[in-house]
This record gives sequence, structure tokens and C-alpha cells, in this order.
Amino acid sequence: MEFSIFHIPILAFLAYSLQKLCVAYFHPLSNVPNAHFTTPLSRAWLLVQKYRGCENHARHAAHKRLGPIIRLGPHELSINSIEGVQTVYNNSSFERTEWFLNAFRGREAPFMVCMLRTKEHGSRKRMMASIYMKTYIQNSPVIKSLVIDVFQKSFRNELAKWAVDALTVDVMQAFQPCVTDFTTGWLFGIKARTDWLHNKSEANTFYRNFERSGADDAQQNLRQWSNEMCQKSLKTADAKNDICQDGGATHKASVCSELHTHLRKTENPEATATFLKDEMLDHVIANQIATAIVLTYVTYSLSLNPLWQTKLRSELNNLSTPQNEKFPSPRDLDSLPILDAIITETLRLYSPNPGPWPRHHPTSSCQINGGYTIPARTTISASSYTLHRNDSVFPDPEEWKPERWLEASTEQRAGMMKWFWAFGSGTRMCIGSNLALLSLKAVVKVIYSEFETEIVDGSGMEQMDSVIAGPVGDKLLLKFVKVK
Ligand code: HEM
Ligand SMILES: *[C@@H]1O[C@H](CO)[C@@H](O)[C@H](O)[C@H]1NC(C)=O
Ligand SMILES: *[C@@H]1O[C@H](CO)[C@@H](O)[C@H](O)[C@H]1NC(C)=O
Ligand SMILES: *[C@@H]1O[C@H](CO)[C@@H](O)[C@H](O)[C@H]1NC(C)=O
Ligand SMILES: *[C@@H]1O[C@H](CO)[C@@H](O)[C@H](O)[C@H]1NC(C)=O
Ligand SMILES: *[C@@H]1O[C@H](CO)[C@@H](O)[C@H](O)[C@H]1NC(C)=O
Repeated sequence: MEFSIFHIPILAFLAYSLQKLCVAYFHPLSNVPNAHFTTPLSRAWLLVQKYRGCENHARHAAHKRLGPIIRLGPHELSINSIEGVQTVYNNSSFERTEWFLNAFRGREAPFMVCMLRTKEHGSRKRMMASIYMKTYIQNSPVIKSLVIDVFQKSFRNELAKWAVDALTVDVMQAFQPCVTDFTTGWLFGIKARTDWLHNKSEANTFYRNFERSGADDAQQNLRQWSNEMCQKSLKTADAKNDICQDGGATHKASVCSELHTHLRKTENPEATATFLKDEMLDHVIANQIATAIVLTYVTYSLSLNPLWQTKLRSELNNLSTPQNEKFPSPRDLDSLPILDAIITETLRLYSPNPGPWPRHHPTSSCQINGGYTIPARTTISASSYTLHRNDSVFPDPEEWKPERWLEASTEQRAGMMKWFWAFGSGTRMCIGSNLALLSLKAVVKVIYSEFETEIVDGSGMEQMDSVIAGPVGDKLLLKFVKVK
């Protein structure tokens, strides 16, 4: 047979297949168990799971069958062990992959979640690290006044109204303005914060844009909104008011003014304004959605378990409020074991950002789990969905059981916390975890020290299998009853 031009595609196809087979079977990853027999050859299996919205469920099932490390594609792995998580996530030279740019629309102007390179990310994180520290937040007079104004006054008024009028309330919606008024006070300062608990029309404009945030014009509106908030914030926090004094300690006026101070040292005014508005917008959104989801699952779980409401209430009402103060201190609130167990257990079972969170090492290979050698640029990810369901660490993993945290010895609890990954871990762990925990605890305190909750309609409460995982029905209808 003579060689003709028509043979070229066939030869090309054979060469392509041969190369694929080599990658599949002689590749360093070829000894890692395959989630599906096709995974050495293609990502098709994984893409189908993503498309069907069951990626975490499918990975979890595969880990149960195959152990703590599995292959999801020619150059892609999932890990489900503490050792693996530490190797990858507690090492700053592993970087986030390009996936983040698509998932969080981070191409326009980078904000921290979408900063892939170690150096760039580290410099942004250092600008905000101290203001987000636990002790800083606990001692902040801004936080103290927000807890009282937003939660104890405005939100409590809503609760009282709901109870008196015996209203049916969709809490998934109702928690969002409350959380945002608090977050914007923290990010932009008390004078510049939103007041969405009172001004519904302003809130609704934001939500309409947020629901369509995939569309360019809606995205522009959100960024414009954030820009206005930043300008307002910087105007109220001029040089003199930038820092407030409280019992000898100094406090920064807001995250916005703090970040602005750092950015303008190295960036031109235009870049400073762009980076600032995008970073702040991301923090507003990150907090609003995740915290509202957790509060929804806390009130859902407590409504299903009235006995836990009683236990919680007695712990909360046991708590003394310091003299001349209107609310217990953040530190005292943080020391309540039942409240802490309820929040932690809800974050375990209903992790609102379950992952998976992909990483890769740009240049070197690494060793994971019993000596598998993983080549550079292999995508590796873990998810709290799967880590939180190891049944030797969390027996009956699908059950909401706050007692597992209360009954554990100090040593057992430390072991469980190693597997607790609601906020991720390592250098790119959630910067807002302490703020989120404080606001969760304060809201739950305001609700359950005075009110009982009952489910009116709890349908559609199964959790979505997605990066931001709210209830599939996107609602929870509750009734609030004032305790006699
Ligand atoms: C219950 C509430 C929250 C949950 C469950 C949560 C969860 C997470 C997780 C799992 C990550 C790590 C992603 C990864 O490893 O790639 C993360 C990162 C992040 N979160 Fe949160 N988050 C919450 C609240 C907040 C709040 C209140 C803020 C800010 C106000 C915030 C801002 C961020 C930022 C900026 C990052 C990126 C950190 C970095 O790149 O170093 N989150 N969050
Ligand atoms: C993470 O890494 C840091 C320094 O690289 C180290 O000090 C710390 O102990 C590590 N954490 C864990 C849990 O291994
Ligand atoms: C609500 O906010 C809008 C826009 O900022 C403002 O024009 C309006 O006066 C506010 N309404 C109330 C009741 O505060
Ligand atoms: C209430 O306080 C008392 C005295 O400090 C303590 O013994 C008791 O265990 C507390 N009750 C709860 C439910 O925390
Ligand atoms: C981080 O990972 C790289 C690649 O595996 C390794 O060479 C390096 O030693 C690790 N760094 C630390 C601090 O463990
Ligand atoms: C669960 O955790 C234990 C150690 O605490 C570990 O030995 C085991 O492999 C884990 N199980 C799964 C399914 O990952």
C-alpha cells in the first residue's frame, strides 16, 4: 500500500493514542487507584460528576471504596487524609490552580482568593492578617458596638416582631441583611455600614445584582457598589479617625482603611482603588452567603432537636453580662461549650463551602500517602465534605450530634479538630474564620436566649453538592415563639 495524504490523520491518531496510553499506564500516577477505569485516559468521568452536581458525593464514594488517595484524571488526584492535607495545604509553595479564576470571576482584577502565585498572595494576606486575628477581633470596640447595634437591637427587634405576629419566616433570606450589616460595619466602619435590616430596597438592589452576578452588567453594578462603599469608608476614616483609642489600646477604623494604607504604598491610585473594591466585595459576599447557610442549618437542626434548644438556652442564660455592658464579651461567648459544640457540629455536617479546593506544585514533585510520587503540576484537592465523613473519627457521620464534641476528651477533641476542615487549613486558610465564628455565635445567642424555633416547612433542606452549598430548596420556613 502506498503512503498517501489520507494516511496522515490515521497516523496522527495512532500517535495521539499511544501518547495517551503512555500517560495512562506508564505514568508515575499509574499505581494510584482509579476512581473510574477511564480516569487514566481522560477527565470525562470527573466532568460528568461536576455537570450532574454530585462531584463531592462521587469522590466520597470512591474514597470509601479505594482509600485515601484516588486518581480523577490523567493529571488529577483527590486526597482524603491528614497527612495528604498537610503535605499539600500546609506548604506555601503549592499554589491554587486556574480553576479559581473561573469559579470566582478573578480575571479582571485579582483579589486574594484568586491570587494563584505564592508571593503575590502572601503579600496581600499580610496586609490584612493582623486585623483578622482572633484576639484583635475579640478586643475590637467596632465589633463590640456592631454586636449590640446590629444583632442585639435591630435583629432582636425583627425577632420580637416575628414572634408577636406569629409570622412564617424564610430564614435563609432573613439572615442575609443581618449578616451584611455586621460585615459591612467591620469592613467599612460603623459610619459607612449598610442598614439593610431597615432599608429593604437598598438590600434588594444588591440581591438582584448578586443573583445575576454571572452577567457582566450585574458584576459591574456590584463592583460599583463596593467602590462607593470604599469611598464612603475612607471619607469617614480620615487620618485622625483612622485609629480609635480604647483603654490604651489602638484599633484600626476598618479593614478598608487598613488595606488602603498598605496598597497605596506600592500601587498607583487607580490600581489601589480597583484592588480595594474587589477585595472588599469578595469579603462581603464570602461572609453573607456562608454565614447565612450555617445559620439556616443551625436553626434547622435545633428546631428538629428541641432538647438541644433547652440545653443551649440554659447555658446562654447562665452567662453573665459584665456590669455596664449590654452583651456578653466575645471571649465569654466563645467559652460556652454547648454553643461551641452546636456551631462546630453544624459546620462539620453542613460545611457551607465543602470544596474541593484544587492546588498544584508548579515545579517540584512530592511524596504523599505511603510513598506515591506525585509529579509537579498534578492537580491535587481535598474537600471538607469527605474529610468530615470519616466514620472512625466521626461515628455516624451523617447524624447531627453536638454531644460528640462535648463528650470527647481533650485528646480526642484535638484528633477530631485535625479532620475539621470547614475553613480549610494552612497558608490559604479562610482569613475570616474568627469573624465568622463570632458572628455565628452572637446571632445564635440573640435568638435562643429568648426564642424557640419551630419548622413550618423544612422541605428541600438537603444540601447542594457545589462549592457554595446551600439547601437545594434555597429556603427554610420557621416560626419564632417567645419563651415565657
Ligand atoms: C462560615 C463562614 C465561612 C466559611 C465556611 C468559609 C470557608 C472558607 C474556605 C474553606 C476557604 C479556603 C479555600 C481554599 O482552601 O482554597 C476560605 C477562604 C477565604 N475566605 Fe472564607 N469562609 C467563611 C467566612 C468568611 C468570611 C467572614 C470572610 C471575610 C470577611 C471570608 C473570606 C475568605 C477569604 C478572603 C479567603 C481566601 C483566603 C486566602 O486566599 O488566603 N470567609 N473560606
Ligand atoms: C505547618 O507548617 C508550619 C511551618 O511551615 C509549621 O510550623 C506547622 O507546625 C505546620 N502545621 C502542621 C499542622 O503540620
Ligand atoms: C434607603 O437607601 C436608599 C439608597 O441609599 C435611600 O435613597 C433611601 O432614602 C433609604 N431609605 C430609608 C428608609 O432609609
Ligand atoms: C450554669 O452555671 C453553673 C454555675 O456556674 C454551672 O454549675 C452550671 O453547669 C451551668 N449550667 C450550664 C447549662 O452551663
Ligand atoms: C513543600 O513542598 C515541596 C515539594 O514537595 C518540598 O520540596 C518542600 O520541602 C516543602 N516545604 C516544606 C516546608 O515542607
Ligand atoms: C479515618 O481516620 C483514621 C485515623 O484517624 C484513618 O486511619 C483512616 O484511614 C481514615 N479513614 C478513611 C476512610 O479515610
